Formats: sequence, structure tokens, C-alpha cells
Amino acid sequence: MENFRKIVLWLIAVMMGTFLVECRDSVLHRVGGGRYSWAPHINFAEWSSHEQFYVGDWLYFGFDKHIYDVLEVNKTSYENCIDKNFIKNITQGGRDVFNLSNAKPYYFLSGRGHCSKGMKVAVYVRDYAAPPLGVAPFLVYNGFASTTNSRLIQLVMLATALAWAFL
Ligand SMILES: *[C@@H]1O[C@H](CO)[C@@H](O)[C@H](O)[C@H]1NC(C)=O
Ligand SMILES: *[C@@H]1O[C@H](CO)[C@@H](O)[C@H](O)[C@H]1NC(C)=O
Ligand SMILES: *[C@@H]1O[C@H](CO)[C@@H](O)[C@H](O)[C@H]1NC(C)=O
Repeated sequence: MENFRKIVLWLIAVMMGTFLVECRDSVLHRVGGGRYSWAPHINFAEWSSHEQFYVGDWLYFGFDKHIYDVLEVNKTSYENCIDKNFIKNITQGGRDVFNLSNAKPYYFLSGRGHCSKGMKVAVYVRDYAAPPLGVAPFLVYNGFASTTNSRLIQLVMLATALAWAFL
């Protein structure tokens, strides 16, 4: 009987791991946290440190296109606020998105002299991986609730209930 319980719990963990890998929705991250928060004097380092960026997620830049722009640059340019020879100009209408398609650091800044007023952001994008097998379902729930849909939360709660039923 004890072995049977272990097998059932292990199967639930495997199923949940598979589900998490396959079903995570991509997340739209509003840079700076608000609708028009690509602007000077916002702490973008603080903002990005509270976000989890995964491959396939999107960045949203909301700003006044007449005043600011968004340029993807390399690390050196980011650190030194150099807006020449950027990698990509993302600026379109001021409600612009960028697909985080690779697991790597990305760097952005506004040219036109605004980088030195704090308009630069670095995001560190990771491959999405499910938590290791054996992590208790309620931990999974707490860790991923903000980035997942209600269907997944329901599934996790169901799995939690099942696990308790067999314990
Ligand atoms: C970063 O970009 C700047 C400007 O184009 C260039 O001078 C520099 O060599 C680049 N650095 C790296 C490490 O690619
Ligand atoms: C980036 O693109 C926008 C919109 O096309 C344009 O207005 C702006 O001048 C460009 N910025 C640079 C630095 O090329
Ligand atoms: C965004 O990037 C991901 C990862 O490379 C890719 O699978 C997806 O098709 C891209 N989406 C768009 C709309 O370009």
C-alpha cells in the first residue's frame, strides 16, 4: 500500500511537470510597470528585478514617441548610454512590443539624451523549466500563480487534493 501511494504521487508530479512545461502562457511585461512608464526617473533595475522573463514572453513599452524612443543595444552601449550603432530600433507608435525570443540578456535604452536620465533597462531571459519533480504542489501554486492561467491553478489544486487524499 505504501508503495502504491508513492507511485501515485510520483505520477501526479510527472503529469504536473509536463503540464507546466507545455502550458505556460507567454507573459506581456509592461516595462516600468505602468501603461506609459517608459519615461525618465523610473527605477527600471528595481522593476526588472521583480519580474521573471522567459523565452516567448513580450516586453511592452508605452511612451510618447515624439519625445522618447526604444533602441535595443549591446551591454557596452547600455552601460555607457551610447545610442549610436544600436542593434534594433523598436520605436513604432509609442505602444510597442518586443518578443523575447532567446534565453539571453537584452538591453534597451532611449536615445535623444534620455538614457542618462535613467531610461535604460536590462532583462535577463531564461528558458522555461518546470520545477523539479517532488516539489509540493502548493509551492508550485505560490511560485507560478502570477504568470499562469486559472486552468493551471485549478489543475494544481486538484492535484494537491489528490495527493492529500492518498497520504
Ligand atoms: C557594442 O556596440 C558598440 C556600438 O555599436 C560597439 O562600438 C561595441 O564594439 C559593441 N560591443 C560589443 C561587445 O559588441
Ligand atoms: C527609430 O524609429 C522611429 C520611428 O520609425 C524614428 O522616429 C526614430 O528617429 C528612430 N530612431 C533612431 C535613433 O533611428
Ligand atoms: C516569439 O519568440 C518565440 C521564441 O523564439 C517564438 O516561438 C514565437 O513564434 C515568437 N512570436 C512571434 C509572434 O514572433
